[in-house]
Amino acid sequence: MSSPHSTARERAHAYKVVIPAAGLGTRFLPATKAIPKELLPIVDTPALQYIVEEAVDAGLKQVLVIVGRGKEAIIDHFDHAPELEAALEKKGDSDRLKSVQRSAELADVHYIRQGEPRGLGHAVNCAAPYVGQEVFAVMLGDDLIDARDDLLGPMLEVQQAFGGCVVALMEVPHDQVSMYGCAAVEAVQAPAISAPRSIGDVVRITDLVEKPTPEDAPSNLAIIGRYVLSPEIFDALDRTPPGRGGEVQLTDAMKLLASEGHPIHGVVFTGRRYDTGDRGDYLRAVVRLAAEREDLGPSFVEWLGEFLHEFQTERSVSS
Ligand code: UTP
Repeated sequence: MSSPHSTARERAHAYKVVIPAAGLGTRFLPATKAIPKELLPIVDTPALQYIVEEAVDAGLKQVLVIVGRGKEAIIDHFDHAPELEAALEKKGDSDRLKSVQRSAELADVHYIRQGEPRGLGHAVNCAAPYVGQEVFAVMLGDDLIDARDDLLGPMLEVQQAFGGCVVALMEVPHDQVSMYGCAAVEAVQAPAISAPRSIGDVVRITDLVEKPTPEDAPSNLAIIGRYVLSPEIFDALDRTPPGRGGEVQLTDAMKLLASEGHPIHGVVFTGRRYDTGDRGDYLRAVVRLAAEREDLGPSFVEWLGEFLHEFQTERSVSS
């Protein structure tokens, strides 16, 4: 039993995390024809490694990655590479050796294969035998939360306070709601959160709609890629027929639970988030994270300033 004074991090040890990474990544073709989009580098580290690091920071070290055809490189990335490690050791390159070993030692990573990419809901349902009867987290393999911001820890605390399921929400411009699952919400008395940086309201979710038209959207609160789910979700997924795009939608299964009175809460995130499966967002993530790096940042930012100046000057001359 956790004491009333234990932190969210301590209490979170019972949880496992599921990272669906079996999607086709069609928005990033042709790069993702042979390379999993979850391994596209953000500067020099694959997007998926940032996500596993975020899980570990929130106290979740039992990780299940849902993989599919062509995603074998993910398994290699989170394993030891004896020949590479021996070569780096021989050269005395201890910094690179550490960086190569880090991904293999970061967490306890397991894998399940989703035979066919039949949707996010179907991918999460593949995790049922691994999760069992526990509350667990889901982190999308292409959704990056800036390491300076808190999200998963507060979500675990909200789940402890209310039970049921908790999803991360973010305000998006009204004309973009059709790219997301969207939530109808009502106010709720929020529990005290120990690390509230980048957290706005905590709300109760009364309904959910997957990719609504702006006219049908119940709000401009979009579901982003972090969830804390109770095991009832598996039964709901079993009862959820394929929805939008012929895929089993996680949003539809949560909508079913909400309609049956199961508590579903939303934590509104106000920090920085990047959809690395989207080319524009991917570029923004690379530029910002490179600019903030101690080793690369100073010279990169200087070059960026010069580049922008030249680019704008050339444009104004040619127009
Ligand atoms: P996305 O919808 O962003 O992934 O799913 P996608 O289908 O690969 O994207 P595009 O639109 O074709 O570019 C969010 C996360 O869920 C995983 C994806 O790998 C991604 O990390 N996913 C999606 C699965 O694991 N299985 C699926 O059947 C669908």
